[in-house]
Amino acid sequence: SAPIVRGLSELRAMVSGWKQSGETVGVVPTMGALHQGHLSLVRAAKDGCDRVIVTIFINPKQFNNPADYDNYPRTEEEDARKLAPFGVDAVYVPDGPTMYPDGFATNVSVGGLTDVLCGAHRPGHFDGVATVVSKLFLQTQADRAYFGEKDFQQLQVVTRLAADLDIPIKVVGCPTIREEDGLAMSSRNLLLSDRARVWAPALNTAMEEMAEGLLAGGDMATLRAKAVAQIERAGFTEVEYLDLRACDTLELLETPSRPARLLAAAWLAGVRLIDNIAVG
Ligand code: PAJ
Repeated sequence: SAPIVRGLSELRAMVSGWKQSGETVGVVPTMGALHQGHLSLVRAAKDGCDRVIVTIFINPKQFNNPADYDNYPRTEEEDARKLAPFGVDAVYVPDGPTMYPDGFATNVSVGGLTDVLCGAHRPGHFDGVATVVSKLFLQTQADRAYFGEKDFQQLQVVTRLAADLDIPIKVVGCPTIREEDGLAMSSRNLLLSDRARVWAPALNTAMEEMAEGLLAGGDMATLRAKAVAQIERAGFTEVEYLDLRACDTLELLETPSRPARLLAAAWLAGVRLIDNIAVG
């Protein structure tokens, strides 16, 4: 199975060997509790690069809620087993002090894109993501990095930061992998009770219907209200946001007049679920 690398100097030595042989390196950053969504990124990385590093680090800086951090699933052995068939070259699992040694004082903050959606509802979250992803890009020195559209805003944020900081890495976005009933795969789905799991696909169903309505020229306020009612009737306690936004800038849109995305976050039995789909 894939070698687990915990130290940064060990990782650096491996990568420089590959680079000296002219091999391209891909990285798939994760927080573990791997599912088919993560594995689809690993597959894309294997297809696009000579060498692949999967990183597993549950990044405390991006959790705005301590209970969420404590409850986050930790399944390292199972993760290593799931990665075995893919021929990954290294699973980089740094510990806390390797990522944030005593005296760590730097924060990477991407403006604009992070003012809305999850950025508005989870203070500090995207600073935590941007900081750890910058470190992972620089530590792995990868040529390509693979991210899921599942976290659409995150994909835009990391694309922006790599460009702004001149990090020579290509950020590749990959489609959202779903359960058969439409629920977007997520490590947090493990936290849903059996009952809540049955209700969870209602979020995606309502979004798909709203997208159809928008494409048919329907009125935003009416369609939005209908979708929110549908999601709450299914057992969700709160719809945090349900917005139509421009794919690139995440500007709010009233109609899908340009490449657009419907994005939502909603709470189900104490678990926060997010989803997004293309409109048009
Ligand atoms: P995590 O939630 O573990 O997700 C790791 C990667 O898998 C992200 O790029 C995410 O978008 C992608 N992913 C998750 N569910 C997916 C699905 N159903 N289909 C396709 N891709 C999916 O996102 C993070 O970790 C962290 O914020 C991280 C980038 C690792 C920084 O700590």
